[in-house]
Amino acid sequence: MADKLHLTLGHHAYDIIVGERLLAKAGEHIKPLLARPHVIIVSDETVARLYLHRLTNSFEEAGIQHRSVIVPAGEGTKSLGEFSKVVEQILEYKPSRDTTLIALGGGMVGDLTGFAASVLLRGVNFIQIPTTLLAQVDSSVGGKTGINSAFGKNLIGSFHQPLLVLSDISTLSSLPKRELLAGYAEMLKYALINDVEFFAWLDKNAQALLAGDVALMTQAILHCCKAKADIVEADEKEKNVRALLNLGHTFGHALEAETGYGDTLLHGESVAIGMVMAFAASVAMGLCAEEDLEQVKAHYKTVGLPASPKEIRSEWNVDALMEHFTRDKKATGSGMTFILMRGIGKAFVMHDADAAVIKRIVTEFVAA
Ligand SMILES: NC(=O)c1ccc[n+]([C@@H]2O[C@H](COP(=O)([O-])OP(=O)(O)OC[C@H]3O[C@@H](n4cnc5c(N)ncnc54)[C@H](O)[C@@H]3O)[C@@H](O)[C@H]2O)c1
Ligand SMILES: [Zn+2]
Repeated sequence: MADKLHLTLGHHAYDIIVGERLLAKAGEHIKPLLARPHVIIVSDETVARLYLHRLTNSFEEAGIQHRSVIVPAGEGTKSLGEFSKVVEQILEYKPSRDTTLIALGGGMVGDLTGFAASVLLRGVNFIQIPTTLLAQVDSSVGGKTGINSAFGKNLIGSFHQPLLVLSDISTLSSLPKRELLAGYAEMLKYALINDVEFFAWLDKNAQALLAGDVALMTQAILHCCKAKADIVEADEKEKNVRALLNLGHTFGHALEAETGYGDTLLHGESVAIGMVMAFAASVAMGLCAEEDLEQVKAHYKTVGLPASPKEIRSEWNVDALMEHFTRDKKATGSGMTFILMRGIGKAFVMHDADAAVIKRIVTEFVAA
């Protein structure tokens, strides 16, 4: 079973195909899109060990020539050093302008490969085959690619849309439960931003979906891709809507920065906690009913998402966390901007958020 969404983003149109066991049929889906049946696959060691052979078998059946570049797993590979190694390795395979790069992996591989495709020989096509839930609902849609700098995350990059996104949900069965839930947090984000019906649907179906129900997962992933694409498209006309996708991220980034972007706190977990903090701040400012916050927290309990920084570790430094918000403020020269809530499905951008309330909420959340 596979379902499809046709997206138009900017001047580019492409399909997102979601379904089971798609790796085995990847060659069939991809071949008609290739200018030349020659691809270079980029993957990380973990994903390559699990899935590369399925992909290359299907390319062989379809008569697509392939080479592979395998990089170490983990966010550390999204660096200038690793990026230059990847590009040189790709060049060793003598690509031409009509070679297509294939990103097989999570958001790390997708961002790295997309960026390589955008600069290799002044730009070649690429295809995303995301294998984490986060990559299937978030990083593979929207065309942002890039790597990290010593000065911060994703500071070096480009916009480059793929030719196709092929999301094989069968690959999610090997994903650690924690990674699956972290991706689910980004899924839930779309519901909380502007889709109260989707929240009700998730509230009813999340447990079955996370337990591996194929039909529910397919439906939910396509729904999220459409939600992200709608927001990204709307931003071309209406400035700032894309900022809503940062719901939970301002609080989350501060927590992530304090834990060092590692295994202590996954990105999606930081977003999950950040979204609860955004609701709590909104309740404290009299913008949102407490009932909505309680409903969100109850949902977290059901699915097993962390709702507080204290579930991650006991000691946090409030001033250090606040410093991350004010650093943003200095960078933009305006007030502290947060995505806040008027209720479930009613996110909005608040510039000049009240620093005293934010500090009170952060303090309450991290207090012993
Ligand atoms: N471009 C965008 O718009 C965008 C949006 C959100 C996030 N991102 C980026 O995405 C990255 C995070 O993505 P991620 O969470 O997918 O991380 P990731 O790619 O590092 O994958 C997480 C871990 O899961 C492993 N893995 C991947 N697929 C697996 C599978 N099917 N089975 C078992 N293990 C598997 C990986 O080897 C890795 O160890 C970050 O670099 C972030 O900046 C980009
Ligand atoms: Zn995110």
